[in-house]
Amino acid sequence: MKIIRSVRAMGKEIKRLKKNGKIIGLVPTMGYLHKGHISLLNRGRKENDILIMSIFVNPIQFGPEEDIKRYPRDIQRDKAIAVREKVDIIFYPRARDMYPSEFRTYVDVERVTEGLCGGRRPGHFRGVATVVAKLFNIVMPDRAYFGQKDAQQAIVIRKMVKDLNMPVKIKTMPIVREKDGMAISSRNKYLDNKERRAGLVLSQSLKEAKDLVKRGIKDVSIIKRKVTELIRTEKPACIDYVEIVDKEKLERLKYIKKGHTLIALAVYINKTRLIDNITL
Ligand code: PAJ
Repeated sequence: MKIIRSVRAMGKEIKRLKKNGKIIGLVPTMGYLHKGHISLLNRGRKENDILIMSIFVNPIQFGPEEDIKRYPRDIQRDKAIAVREKVDIIFYPRARDMYPSEFRTYVDVERVTEGLCGGRRPGHFRGVATVVAKLFNIVMPDRAYFGQKDAQQAIVIRKMVKDLNMPVKIKTMPIVREKDGMAISSRNKYLDNKERRAGLVLSQSLKEAKDLVKRGIKDVSIIKRKVTELIRTEKPACIDYVEIVDKEKLERLKYIKKGHTLIALAVYINKTRLIDNITL
């Protein structure tokens, strides 16, 4: 396995691989790998000749209130996991190489970035779309892998790729969960035992929503109210948003549309913001 740090060196390597007709898969990450990332690596490994994983804690997708320095990192552990998962190359660039002081260009995807996390984290998806566009231009992957855990992110990337005619196929993989249902996230590390138990309310309330729909309830306001009530039973929990939207356009729905509905949550457990979602 190679670890490449400079953008230039990565470009050279890609040129060589492409000349040899290699099909390239990319898994973009911010590191601190867990089972969610590993599911993307597994699929990427199966479908491509060369599997590249990027590790980059992207400064421009963090808001001024969000502490990028606090974001968990463990590159040695990530390297060991990458070797085990048969990653060919880790692209691990430095921030000053990705964003030199004269950097001026950003990718802004409209509409689908307005609601949900986009509404609560202004500029976040501009940062995500910009860094992913850069990674695509540097690595030139045939396929790139994203998790349904960040449902809006996957939609934003798909929209960018379609609108800007980027020659890459986007694959979205299902949410990987702990045995008790909690969606796996690097941010779960911030939770103490009590908070971890409270955090379960996200997946539990989504399950409750699903059950309500199964029982024939279609009115979004009823489902929203139930979900909200359930989350509020947990003392450390504070709702950032509960949204029921069209799963592609992310526009709010009045009634559940079978096969087209996304229920998405963001909930603070004390200081830690957790997200989860299901599609119906
Ligand atoms: P990061 O949070 O490291 O996540 C990398 C990828 O792993 C994302 O596509 C995310 O959706 C996926 N992922 C995380 N938890 C998952 C889970 N429990 N099940 C399935 N997939 C999961 O998302 C980012 O980094 C960044 O925004 C990035 C795309 C790298 C741009 O900076």
